[in-house]
Amino acid sequence: MAANQDSEDPEEEIPFENEIDGLLARLTLKEKVGQLNQLNGSEQTGPAVEDVDLEDEIRNGKVGSVLNADGLENRERYQRIAVEETEHGVPLLFGYDVIHGFRTLSPIPLGEAASWDPDAVRASANVAAAEASASGIHWTFGPPVDVARDARWGRSMETSGEDPYLAGELAAARVRGFQGDDLTAADTVLACAKHYAAYGEVKAGREYNTVDISESTLRDIHLPPFEAAVTEGVGTVMNAFTVFEGIPAGASKRLVRDVLKDEWAFDGFVVSDWNSFREFIYHGVAGDERDAAELAIEAGSDMDMVGHIYTNELVNLVEDGTIDEALVDDAVRRVLRSKYRLGLFEDPYRYFDDERRKETVLNETHREIVRDVARKSIVLMKNERDVLPLDDVDSIAVVGALADSADDVLGDWRGCGRPEDAVSVLDGIEGTVDNAEVRYAQGCDRSGMVSATLREEAIETVEETDVAVVAVGESYELSGEASSRSDIDLPGEQQELLEALQATGTPVVAVLMNGRPLALPWLSENVPAILETWFLGTEAGDAIADVLFGNHQPSGRLPMSFPQTVGQVPIHYNHLPTGRPQHRAEAGWGTSYLDIPNDPLYAFGHGLSYTTFEYADLELGASTIKMNEPLSIGLTVENIGDVVGTEVVQVYIHDLVGSRARPVKELKRFRKLELEPGERREVTFEIESDDLAFWTADEVFAAEPGEFDVMIGHASDDIRLTDSFELRA
Ligand code: BGC
Repeated sequence: MAANQDSEDPEEEIPFENEIDGLLARLTLKEKVGQLNQLNGSEQTGPAVEDVDLEDEIRNGKVGSVLNADGLENRERYQRIAVEETEHGVPLLFGYDVIHGFRTLSPIPLGEAASWDPDAVRASANVAAAEASASGIHWTFGPPVDVARDARWGRSMETSGEDPYLAGELAAARVRGFQGDDLTAADTVLACAKHYAAYGEVKAGREYNTVDISESTLRDIHLPPFEAAVTEGVGTVMNAFTVFEGIPAGASKRLVRDVLKDEWAFDGFVVSDWNSFREFIYHGVAGDERDAAELAIEAGSDMDMVGHIYTNELVNLVEDGTIDEALVDDAVRRVLRSKYRLGLFEDPYRYFDDERRKETVLNETHREIVRDVARKSIVLMKNERDVLPLDDVDSIAVVGALADSADDVLGDWRGCGRPEDAVSVLDGIEGTVDNAEVRYAQGCDRSGMVSATLREEAIETVEETDVAVVAVGESYELSGEASSRSDIDLPGEQQELLEALQATGTPVVAVLMNGRPLALPWLSENVPAILETWFLGTEAGDAIADVLFGNHQPSGRLPMSFPQTVGQVPIHYNHLPTGRPQHRAEAGWGTSYLDIPNDPLYAFGHGLSYTTFEYADLELGASTIKMNEPLSIGLTVENIGDVVGTEVVQVYIHDLVGSRARPVKELKRFRKLELEPGERREVTFEIESDDLAFWTADEVFAAEPGEFDVMIGHASDDIRLTDSFELRA
């Protein structure tokens, strides 16, 4: 498997490797270890760590990379010290969390995943890369490619949701968007697939908690997006904080060396998470720093983020013969390879061009690109009585502190994003309508608390208008790292406020903002229209107004199931069958709860349009295929409404009998189609036996012969066409 963008071109690869050999031979052991050390600049993105003088450490050849360095000027100064004041002048690598944008922000990753649009996602990552690169950043700690199946976990917002295939497609798109074809180009940065691996399985959704899953769940659910990123050529991978089978991910030789570096032939480097090598001690797998360093380097984790574990211990470990210097050399080779690929040896200052920064950051083209992906990320969850679009209203009440917030719309992990650059929902609506009166009432504060005055004022405003657009959900800091919640309903008294507004008789449109699926049974039952808008970034308000007023057709689909109640969590569409499935069980003996249903409130893949689509003419290319033979799947989709609309055709399969139980449904392909009213389009997909592979009882990743159902439809719970085929050995 091709594991990096240069490996297919030996002409390119050899010069770097020769240079690296030469440099490795010149560096002392201590200097080599310095290359594996990453120190922090100013902004702190984890618990406090040992305070050192960064400039002195760089001058002493003890630093290979700096994260969170503030501003182009500082970065350039640090780089000059590394290049001009150290013996070998090895340039520094500047890293930063450019997760959904640098200054111009796209939707949070979970929101962007709702676009089901790899091209738009690639374009948005490219905007982020261009702005970061123009600001002297070489390396983003993104994309996060964890699979999230527990909505309580705050970092669900950083993921592409619950499905390994969708997450893999978007992981590849983001890697392509960040890295492009040429890492020396002005609009590219080195990417980092994180957090390797299975971080999304923290027990009870509690941040940093134990992960205890089977090898098959690891292989079938959590590894595919990482493998997709590696196949796309991702330059770096970050260890998860969590354990797999009791071993912290960064100390796991099996995860890092065996799977990532050997099985997948990954030739980039692996960075720890913030201080995570030292945390081996707190996990109780290392007695001291020396043990921790030994475990990490043996496992194949190459760079130490802010822990000082490698600089404190590796030289001694080599000198007393505990570890082979070749381990250090391999890690350094990988780090240097990235620096060569970025062109840093050719010109270490190429990324410090203030003119380029001014032209690039927050430019109009970037705003247009993120507005486009923001619109595509909005999910119309419910639209009773066609309340939306708002095409015939004389007055609109806009309610909720979140509606007037240009801060919350940026979401967490906002890089250098600033509220003053962003468009709130209220600004977006006011800027879009010309013939309707817009009146704002706060209703509740950002945490959802309602005072008597706010309540009265909101009721009065809503009573006097034709429609109420009420922004409800979470303030932005309720999701992200270290932001797990045990309850995932609307915080504070937002539901009471909605009940009061609903009682006025004015139709209510709920505009949701949140970084995770929420449990919203009352809302879903009572409010006629619900628009899921996540945290859409810099252009949020304009994008929301585009959809509210029908200037853009809603086309987002949920990347993660929305439960009825937190008690159903973790809930995901691709669960295994049980021995007592509900539909065939004798009453009282099926897999179920006594008090709540099994189905989610809104299923994976759900999302409405302002029109409807009809599916027909499913035709499989064959009823039987052999291993490695493609199967074509054809069908037609027709827009039977009277406005243009975008459908996301979703192809699921079910492997009826496997050596291990297979999920009831697995997404294998999808396609987004924009159709004019009355337009009918043929769609063809192709799948191969590789697409049917899983971690079998023989502990290999392979497809097994047998019968497969094909299910095609509008959402995982709205299948319109079915057929089946057989895979022969
Ligand atoms: C996070 C990473 C992040 C790192 C550096 C950690 O706390 O888990 O995702 O890249 O900090 O900011």
